Amino acid sequence: MTNALKLALPKGRLLEPSLALLRSMGATVSEPATTRKLLVPSSDGTLSVLFVKPADVPVYVESGAADVGITGTDVLRETAADVLEPLALGFGRCRMVVASPAQIAYPALPGGVTPRVATKYPRLTRAFFAETGLGVEVIAVSGSVEVAPLLGLSHWIVDLVDTGRTLRENGLVERAPLLDVGAVVVVNRASQKLRLEEHQATGCSRVECNPGAPPRGQPPPGGFEGLTPSRWLGVTGPAGPRARPLTRAPPAWSSGPPRPAPRYRTRCHDPGPCGETAGPA
Ligand code: PRP
Repeated sequence: MTNALKLALPKGRLLEPSLALLRSMGATVSEPATTRKLLVPSSDGTLSVLFVKPADVPVYVESGAADVGITGTDVLRETAADVLEPLALGFGRCRMVVASPAQIAYPALPGGVTPRVATKYPRLTRAFFAETGLGVEVIAVSGSVEVAPLLGLSHWIVDLVDTGRTLRENGLVERAPLLDVGAVVVVNRASQKLRLEEHQATGCSRVECNPGAPPRGQPPPGGFEGLTPSRWLGVTGPAGPRARPLTRAPPAWSSGPPRPAPRYRTRCHDPGPCGETAGPA
């Protein structure tokens, strides 16, 4: 167990496909519901798995508490964790959008009212509206975001849409896309070096040795057979020796010329100072 790779898995919608992926590689892991253990060994002894809240996966991996993790790009971009992101897993695909009740105007409210936007993604939301030049007040909530406009907490929301059912059943419509989302592997920078050497000592684990090596950030064309978590450390693909560093959210919405940063208001329960502040440059 001392050499087992520590893998952080997110509870919630990405858990079942993540466990299915591990099962397909011969590393079966008991689900959290069937055990009270916090670190669960995989059936083949190669992994020690910790189940954490989705938003915590990048934190565990960035700090090195976990060597590798599976997370959604929504959470990853929101936390802007400094981790390597070598591989997209091809599941958990959905999109992050601005939505509102059909009767509430977008992109401007009548009378110059400052729109309030409820979201689990305050950083990405601020960046999006800063980039698009709309001054908004961001209200951070931690779930059931769609209810916010129904109760008058906000005018608009920023949230994930998968089937669209939650929006439909709450009378909301999509207004603007922010981000395409999917599950990815994240790797701690030190682990990528240290644990890879360890695994190389016992055999070839660089994916250059694997004919199915995918381009960086892409799912492997031939599927994941043989691409076990220890090999995730060595995924470099043809483009270079290092996996892609992730230090900031990619400007998915930054088409067109740059605009002056708008002012936005920070609620007292948001991180950072209260009151009006300049938007990110
Ligand atoms: C996610 C997301 C939406 C919903 C979208 O919520 O935040 O609410 O799924 O899915 P749909 O388009 O298929 O309806 P989740 O179930 O993770 O719960 P949460 O709202 O409490 O975060």
